[in-house]
Amino acid sequence: MPKVSTRDLFAGALEGGYAVGAFNVNNMEIIQAIVEAAQEENSPLILQISKGARKYARHEYLMKLIEAALETADLPIAVHLDHGDSFELCKDCIDGGFTSVMIDGSHLPLDENIALVKKVVDYAHPRGVPVEAELGRLAGIEEHVDVSEADAIYTNPDEAAEFVERSGCDSLAVAIGTSHGAYKFKSEPKLDFERLEKIQEKLPGFPLVLHGASTVLKEFVDLCNQYGGALPGAQGVPETMITKASKTNVCKVNIDTDLRLAMTASIRKVFAEKPEEFDPRKYLGPARDAIKDMVKHKLNVLGVVGKA
Ligand code: G3H
Ligand code: 13P
Ligand code: ZN
Repeated sequence: MPKVSTRDLFAGALEGGYAVGAFNVNNMEIIQAIVEAAQEENSPLILQISKGARKYARHEYLMKLIEAALETADLPIAVHLDHGDSFELCKDCIDGGFTSVMIDGSHLPLDENIALVKKVVDYAHPRGVPVEAELGRLAGIEEHVDVSEADAIYTNPDEAAEFVERSGCDSLAVAIGTSHGAYKFKSEPKLDFERLEKIQEKLPGFPLVLHGASTVLKEFVDLCNQYGGALPGAQGVPETMITKASKTNVCKVNIDTDLRLAMTASIRKVFAEKPEEFDPRKYLGPARDAIKDMVKHKLNVLGVVGKA
């Protein structure tokens, strides 16, 4: 099946009240595991590539691996640039076959963020490529956000409407309390669903994106810690919250940390239990199996099973 754009996938997600999983890919085993899981669950898929992934594995290798996946799987798959940080990077990815890009100007003042997004939109749209932008900051665990600070850090619903109108972006990543990595909350996990609702009211029928949405599954954190890892206090977004968000206009849920944890936990286990083993297939294979099972579970959490 040929690659699809995220625009095609979001139309179904909005109508069906589910979210499409956007999984970060860095190598063959990760791509195979995600695609096989989606195939078995008959789910549409977004494979996303960060600047770092592109540097690590190289554009050509990742695109050929994804091409192989498209040849063997009968699924709508979009290839998306995650956290593009410049016009040039977005242009390179659009010219190189990506079907969707993110330009992340969330660290910039509003007008500069809008100008950067608009420049990417003006290049992307005539080429049929939709653009994701971000407004607001994804606070880390070190920045515990209380109610008085939330307005300064999280996405402002009024600004969101202005931002979309002026920039011409096709989807918007919002900050409502999620953050990247394995340490998302120091105490009780909390997302600002009221804010999400207000954003949705200001942008009816507009696709929203949730970054930093890994659950940081306890099973894998415990396995990592049991076999020599050091991830004390790792905590993610509870699955119930991801399911709740998926039923709103959140059409894309980004997952990377959960893939990393599944892979690392499995490899640590093999290394600890079979110290004599040195065939990479003997630890990358189980890692691939663990990622596949985790992704199948995740697709159920997103409500996207059977929607391909
Ligand atoms: O949000 C970032 C993703 O987890 C990608 O991470 O830049 O280390 O590839 P990366
Ligand atoms: P996690 O770190 O929660 O997996 O988030 C990934 C992400 O947002 C990629 O853009
Ligand atoms: Zn992100």
